[in-house]
Amino acid sequence: MRALVTGGAGFIGSHLVDALLARGDEVAVVDDLSTGRIENLEAALEAGATFDRLDIRDGDAVGAAFAAAGPELVFHLAAQMDVRRSLVDSAFDASVNVVGTINVLEAAHSSGARRLINASTGGAIYGETEVMPTPESVVPAPVSAYGQSKQCAELYCAWAARARGLETVTLRCGNVYGPRQDPGGEAGVIAIFAGRLLSGEQPTVFGDGSARRDYSFVSDIVAANLLAAGQPSPGGPYNIGTGIDSSVLELIEAIDAAAAPGEAPLDPLFAASREGELQRSSLDVTLAREELGFSAATDLQTGVAATVAALR
Ligand SMILES: NC(=O)c1ccc[n+]([C@@H]2O[C@H](COP(=O)([O-])OP(=O)(O)OC[C@H]3O[C@@H](n4cnc5c(N)ncnc54)[C@H](O)[C@@H]3O)[C@@H](O)[C@H]2O)c1
Repeated sequence: MRALVTGGAGFIGSHLVDALLARGDEVAVVDDLSTGRIENLEAALEAGATFDRLDIRDGDAVGAAFAAAGPELVFHLAAQMDVRRSLVDSAFDASVNVVGTINVLEAAHSSGARRLINASTGGAIYGETEVMPTPESVVPAPVSAYGQSKQCAELYCAWAARARGLETVTLRCGNVYGPRQDPGGEAGVIAIFAGRLLSGEQPTVFGDGSARRDYSFVSDIVAANLLAAGQPSPGGPYNIGTGIDSSVLELIEAIDAAAAPGEAPLDPLFAASREGELQRSSLDVTLAREELGFSAATDLQTGVAATVAALR
C-alpha cells in the first residue's frame, strides 16, 4: 500500500512511519520540521521512505507532494499542538490546524487517495464535562483554541467524506507519551518529567498534581491508526486511549519507580494551574474496542519505564 504521513517527522508520526514500513508499505512523509526532527526518520529514510519539507498551509506545495506520491492512504498528523500558543495566537493555530487540514483533504482527494485517518484530540475536544469517562456522544465544547481548531478539522474531514467521497476516520487520542517526545518541549508532561529525572532538576507541577488524564503509550496510538486504516467501512470519531486516567502525582510515582539506582526521586515545585487546562480528562474507549477491535496493550508503568529507558 502507498501511504503518506503528514507530520511524519514528529513524535507520533515517525513511529507510525516505522510501523508502515515494517508492514511493507511505501511511505511518503511531509513535514515542515517546525517541531518534528529529521533524526526521527533516520531509519525510515534508509528503509526507502521519501521526505518533503513543506508547510501544510501552502496548498500548492501540498498538492504537488500528494500528486507525486499518489497515496492510497493518508495519515494526517501535522498540527500546531501547543495549547498555550493556541491561546496567544489562535489565528496561527487555526491557519495550521484548519486551513492546513483543508489543504491536506483537498490534495488527498485530488491525488486519488481512498482514506484519510485524522489525528484529533480526546484530551482537549470535550472541554469541561461532568460525563466521566467521556464517550464520543458528548458534544465537544473545547476550552483551548487548539481543541477548537481540532474540532473544526474533524468537521472538515466529515465534510470531505460527504462532498468529495474521501473516506475519513477521526481518532481522538488521549495524552500520548513515549520515546522521541521532546523532553524540552512545551507538551508532554511524561517526557518533560522523565528529562528532569535524568538531569536531576526539579519538575514544575501546575496546580496541586491532582489533574487527571488518559496517558497512552505511542505504540498503542500507532496500532489504533493501523486498525482505522484497515476497518472495512469507516466510522468514528473514536476515542483512543487506555480508558484509565491518572493524576500528575501518580505519574511522578511511575517515573520515580523507573529511576536507576542512585538517581534521586523527582522533587516537584508546585505553581498555579494554567489557563485552558482541565482538571480531568477521562476517555470512554468502548466504541474503539467494539468497532476497531482496539485496546491499549501498554499500562502506565510499562510505558513510563520504556520512555525513561529510551531517554537515558
Ligand atoms: N501528543 C499527544 O498527546 C497528542 C494527543 C492527541 C492528539 N495528538 C495529535 O497527534 C498529532 C501528532 O502530534 P505529536 O505529539 O506527534 O506532535 P509533534 O509536534 O511531534 O508532531 C507534529 C508534526 O507536525 C509538523 N508540523 C507542524 N506544523 C506543520 C505545518 N504547518 N506543516 C507541516 N508540518 C507541520 C511538526 O514539524 C511535527 O513533526 C497532532 O495532530 C496532534 O494534534 C497528539
